[in-house]
Amino acid sequence: MAIMAGDAEDRWWSGDVYEPYVGRWSRLVAREFLTWLDAPAGLDWLDAGCGTGALAEAVAERCAPKRLAAVDPSAGFIDFARRRLGGAGAELLRADARDLPFAAGGFDRVVSGLVLNFVPDQPRAVAEMARVARPGGEVALYVWDYAGGMELMRRFWDAAVALDPNARALDEGARFPVCRPGPLRGLFEGAGLDGVDTRAIDVPTAFRDFDEYWTPFLSGQAPAPGYCMSLGEEARAALRERLRASLPVRPDGGIHLTARAWAVRGRRG
Ligand SMILES: C[S@@+](CC[C@H](N)C(=O)[O-])C[C@H]1O[C@@H](n2cnc3c(N)ncnc32)[C@H](O)[C@@H]1O
Repeated sequence: MAIMAGDAEDRWWSGDVYEPYVGRWSRLVAREFLTWLDAPAGLDWLDAGCGTGALAEAVAERCAPKRLAAVDPSAGFIDFARRRLGGAGAELLRADARDLPFAAGGFDRVVSGLVLNFVPDQPRAVAEMARVARPGGEVALYVWDYAGGMELMRRFWDAAVALDPNARALDEGARFPVCRPGPLRGLFEGAGLDGVDTRAIDVPTAFRDFDEYWTPFLSGQAPAPGYCMSLGEEARAALRERLRASLPVRPDGGIHLTARAWAVRGRRG
C-alpha cells in the first residue's frame, strides 16, 4: 500500500508544533506504559506510528533494545524523530501501520502510541501489528481517553460545542469510539491476541498560564487545532474567552489538568 498522501501526511507535518501540543504529554504516558509492559532488555521492538519519537525514544532510554525500528507516514515527523533518535541506532522508515514493511514474526514487542484512532482501518492495523510480532511476543498500544479523562482536549471540545453546534461532529470524543477499554479489547481479541488486558494511564498536564495552554491550538495541526484555525477571528476569540473562563486557573495563573490514556496489550500465541 502506498503511503496515503492527503491522509496522515497532510494532517501531521511539523514535529516542532506537535511537541508542545501533544508530544510532551505522550512522552510521560510512554514511561508509564513501558513500566506496565515490564519487558526484559535485549528485545527487538517496533513502534508503529512513531510521530516525533515519543514512545521509541522511551524504549531506547529504558528498555535496552537489541533492535529498534519505528515507522510513520509523515515525512516531517520521521525527519524530526531521526534527528532525535538516529544516534541511538534506531531504524526510521516512512510507512503505514496498515502495511508494515517487515516480514512476519520479526519483533518481540510491537507498540504504538496515540495512533490507532487515526488509522482508517483499525482491525487491519492491529492485524498487521500482530503479524510482525513473534510467537510469544506482545502487541501493545495506547490512545487518549478523548471522551473523558484527556482533559486538555475534552475541555476544548466542550467549549467549542457550547458555542458552535457544528463542532459536535468534529469532537474527538464522539469521532473516536475505539478509544475505550471495551472496543480496544475487542480489536485485540479479534486479531487473535491472547491474554488481552487494558488499563488507564493518567499523567499530569500542568500549564504555567492560559497562554501556554492556548497557544498550541493555534498551530492548525491535529483535529482540535485544525478546528480552532478554521474559525474566523471573532469566533476563535469567543472560544478562547469561554475556555479561559471555564478552566481551573490557580491564583498564580497555573492550570493543572490530567490526561488519561487507555492502554491495551495482548500476546501473540
Ligand atoms: C498523535 S500522533 C502520535 C505520535 C507518537 N506516536 C506519539 O505518541 O507522540 C499520531 C501519529 O499517527 C500517525 N499516523 C496517522 N495515520 C497513520 C497510519 N495509517 N499508519 C501509521 N501512522 C499513522 C501520524 O503521522 C502521527 O505521527
